Amino acid sequence: MKRIIIAIDGPAASGKSTTAKLLARKLGYLYLDTGAMYRACALAAKRRNIDIDDDDALKDLILNTHVLIQNTEQGNITLLDSEDVSTAIREPDISLLASAISAKAIVRTKMVELQREMGKMGGVVLDGRDIGTVVFPEAELKFFIVAPVQVRAERRFLELQEKGLSPVFEEVLEELQKRDKADSSRALAPLIPAQDAIEIDTGPLTIEGQVEELYQHYQKRMAEL
Ligand code: DC
Repeated sequence: MKRIIIAIDGPAASGKSTTAKLLARKLGYLYLDTGAMYRACALAAKRRNIDIDDDDALKDLILNTHVLIQNTEQGNITLLDSEDVSTAIREPDISLLASAISAKAIVRTKMVELQREMGKMGGVVLDGRDIGTVVFPEAELKFFIVAPVQVRAERRFLELQEKGLSPVFEEVLEELQKRDKADSSRALAPLIPAQDAIEIDTGPLTIEGQVEELYQHYQKRMAEL
């Protein structure tokens, strides 16, 4: 059977990563978390204390940094210069820095090239902000996942609590609103639905319900191909 490219875009904490991961598992596809790649760039900049508005320093950093997503039985592992940084990139301060660094052309050019290389054979589910519009505009199936910001903030709040952190709800909400604004209003590859993307509101859905809904669209699409 043909192994297609599935693009899943949407704002932070909309449920896209969880759904993408489970859908990929159900289909026996690779899963590629592209947000993790921008997070790894942000972590590299933070560790080396680089001002991301300093073009030369940023260029030097990006050209000399290796970011890789590895698929394992346990899920995606993010490697930064061969070090497993999967946990470190989930720190709350990395989220805003990832959003800021992802607006830079040098960063996007390199990450998009890597993503295309990793996904070009098909049989892959990629999640991000610009997969259906920029990375793989030719993807056979595209979703745009949304949910009200209050719902997304609640989800992120619980996620952080489960990790043993003590988040403040208002701060989580504010961070999401800031990122939504930055990711949607930037000049390069802003977060917008592709014209042919199927919009799914995960607000009223359970995780199983989300995966099922996407799976049904997948089956319908496969019958057309
Ligand atoms: O999906 P995430 O929240 O882990 O992504 C972190 C940031 O990376 C997000 O705020 C915007 C950026 N990003 C992007 O610009 N393009 C992508 N394809 C994925 C993420």
